[in-house]
This record gives sequence, C-alpha cells and structure tokens, in this order.
Amino acid sequence: MSAEEIIRLDMGKMDGDTAADAAATLCLGIESSCDETSAAIVDSNRNILSHIIYSQIPEHQKYGGVVPELAARAHILAIDEVVRQTLERAGKTMGDIDVVAATAGPGLIGGVLVGWMAATGIAQATGKPLVAVNHLEGHALVPRLCATSASGAAGGSHVEFPYLLMLASGGHCQILLVRGVGKYELIGQTLDDSAGEAFDKVAKMLGLGYPGGPVVDTRARDGNPTAFKFPRPLCDKPGCDFSFSGIKTAARTFLDRNPAPHTDEFINDFCASFQASVVDCIINRLTNAMCDTRGAAAAPRTLVVAGGVAKNSAIRAAMEELASRHGMIFAAPPMNLCTDNGAMIAWAGIENHRCGNIVREPVAPRPRWPLTEL
Ligand SMILES: Nc1ncnc2c1ncn2[C@@H]1O[C@H](COP(=O)(O)OP(=O)(O)OP(=O)(O)O)[C@@H](O)[C@H]1O
Ligand SMILES: [Mg+2]
Repeated sequence: MSAEEIIRLDMGKMDGDTAADAAATLCLGIESSCDETSAAIVDSNRNILSHIIYSQIPEHQKYGGVVPELAARAHILAIDEVVRQTLERAGKTMGDIDVVAATAGPGLIGGVLVGWMAATGIAQATGKPLVAVNHLEGHALVPRLCATSASGAAGGSHVEFPYLLMLASGGHCQILLVRGVGKYELIGQTLDDSAGEAFDKVAKMLGLGYPGGPVVDTRARDGNPTAFKFPRPLCDKPGCDFSFSGIKTAARTFLDRNPAPHTDEFINDFCASFQASVVDCIINRLTNAMCDTRGAAAAPRTLVVAGGVAKNSAIRAAMEELASRHGMIFAAPPMNLCTDNGAMIAWAGIENHRCGNIVREPVAPRPRWPLTEL
C-alpha cells in the first residue's frame, strides 16, 4: 500500500489538526477489527491531533459484505503506512507518544491480530505502556471524547458518567448503563440480528449495495414511513430486549410478493417504512430502560447513542425527542466517530491508562469479548 493510495482513500475523513497541550498524555490508537484500518493520535485534553481512516469498503462491495480473509490481508498492507502518516500529520514521532492502544477484540480475528500485533510491536520496541482496548468500549466511550446533538450541530461538548447507552453497530445491539470505564451494566440486547445487520440485509434485498445503513437512511428521507406496515417485534412485551429478524423476514416476504423492478418511489417508501419500524422498536425498548434505571442509585441523566447505526438521522432525531420528553440530555458522537475509527480506540486507551488498565502480561486477541466481561 503506497502513501499516495492511503492519502487518496483518506481524503476528507481526517479531523482538523489541533495543537496539543504539552502536559497532556498522548495516545496512539489503532483499529482493525472489521473493514477499516485506522489510527489516531488523541490527547488527554480531548484533542484529536491526527486521524486516518483507510476504508476497505470498495474492496468488499462486490461481495455484498465483508470477506474476513480479504480484510485481514488488506489490513496487513495498510497498517504500517496508516500509522506512519498518523504520526506525520500530527507532527509527532514515536518518542512523543505516551501510550499505545489497539483493539484486542471483539471482531474479525484476522484483522484484530494485525492491529494488535502492530501495537504490541511498537510498545515493545519503544517501552511505552500498552492498552488492550475492547472495540465496543471504544464505541461506548467516544461520546466522552466528543459529543454532539442529533443534528450534529452543537459540537465541542462531552458526556459525563453515568449515561444510558444505545450501542447499535454492525455486530451488536445493546442498551447499557455506563457507570464508568470498565463498568457496564447490560439492560437489554438483541435476541437475533443487530440493527446494522437488519439495515444491511434489507438494503441487499432491494439491490442497494453494501453497506446498507447509509443508503436506506438517504432513501428513507424521500419516502413515506407509513406506506407499508412492518412488524414491531417485542414492542407489546415488557423488557428491553430487541428482535430484528421478524422485520427482515417481513421485508423478504413482501418483496417476494412484489418482485423487482421497483420504482424509486417504492424503494423510498419501503426504506422509510422499514426504518420507522426499527426506530419504533428502539424507542419502545429505551422507554422501558429509562423507567428501569430511573430509580437506580446513580440514575443516568444523559441518553447516548453510539456505533455505526448512530449515524442514522431518524434514530438520532427520535432519541433526542425521547430524551427531552424524559428530562434527559441527548448526546451522540459526531458522524465520523460513529463507525469504526482509530480516535475512539485512542480515547479508550487514554481512559484505561488513566485507570491503570495497561497490559502487564501477554494478551490474546479475542473474536468475542462482551463488555460485561471487562
Ligand atoms: N446512516 C446509517 N443508518 C443506519 N445504519 C448505518 C448508517 N451508517 C452506517 N450504518 C451501519 O453501521 C454498521 C457499521 O457500524 P460499525 O462500524 O460500528 O459496525 P462494526 O464495527 O462492523 O460492528 P461492531 O462494532 O459491532 O463490531 C453497518 O451495519 C452500517 O450499515
Ligand atoms: Mg464497530
């Protein structure tokens, strides 16, 4: 992977350079758990000094999803150059870095191994402390690095503990009470597919390509959310768990009865109606979670959404409205920190390092690593 290629693919994805405070701790974070090879340098004063996201999406698009073996190989080709450019853009050398952090799981194990071994090598060669970051903790803590409102307009703030978190990504869908670093209480989770998977699968059925979430979100803006009736699984039941497979099956059945070619109006209405059912499920389950956690010793005052699906405009808007109805503050990461990125791993590195959570003996990367096991 040449420097030119990385720069070309990274255009427009980098955060602005910010001068670091000389007294701040600097963390180099590496992410490689799925189809983004990413690195960032973040300081303990919440500045992102440099951030590179090399997305492999074009390499996987023709297969309609991520091919793990191809992803692992692409990470190997990209990792050195991504780290080199991250240092260069921050105007730093490895000697300036105080902490090295990398995703050690959960994720596609071939990719996790690449980033984790790179970070381990850097830490051993330089003698810097190393943090094994749980990828989900990266998503969960990034609103403490930087948070915005639903529209993404009011940037510059960050979230304080405790908060109620809707973690919705490609592989996970959970409601968590986040009490502190490493302190996660599982309130509810999906019994089958994640929300991101549901978006991706429905988009695939419609021939809209991969990843499906962004295109369904865009098409839904021009569609009628009440045009088609999708189920709202579990919404008539108490509890905070989710189920998305029923919505997906309903979509499949409906499309079998109404085969392609479809008009733009049909696709827009279909996307809007499907998305409305996902939004309703999320709001229904979060309402129960808010009631369940209201009486808790340290009740959360902030409702947060994180993970790739947090980019969804309808979910952000509905959650903001829900929060305000319940007298809570709503916060979400800026759009470029929702899907996988190195800055969230660097920030989780800073937070864990501050708590003394550094690697003291060899760590084996893990394909599965629930947050509740931290
Ligand atoms: N605007 C959007 N609306 C809905 N879904 C979206 C949107 N943008 C991205 N997504 C979805 O986000 C998912 C990717 O998120 P993310 O990168 O956090 O997942 P992942 O890292 O693969 O999974 P995990 O974090 O669980 O390991 C994809 O399923 C994608 O379709
Ligand atoms: Mg992720």
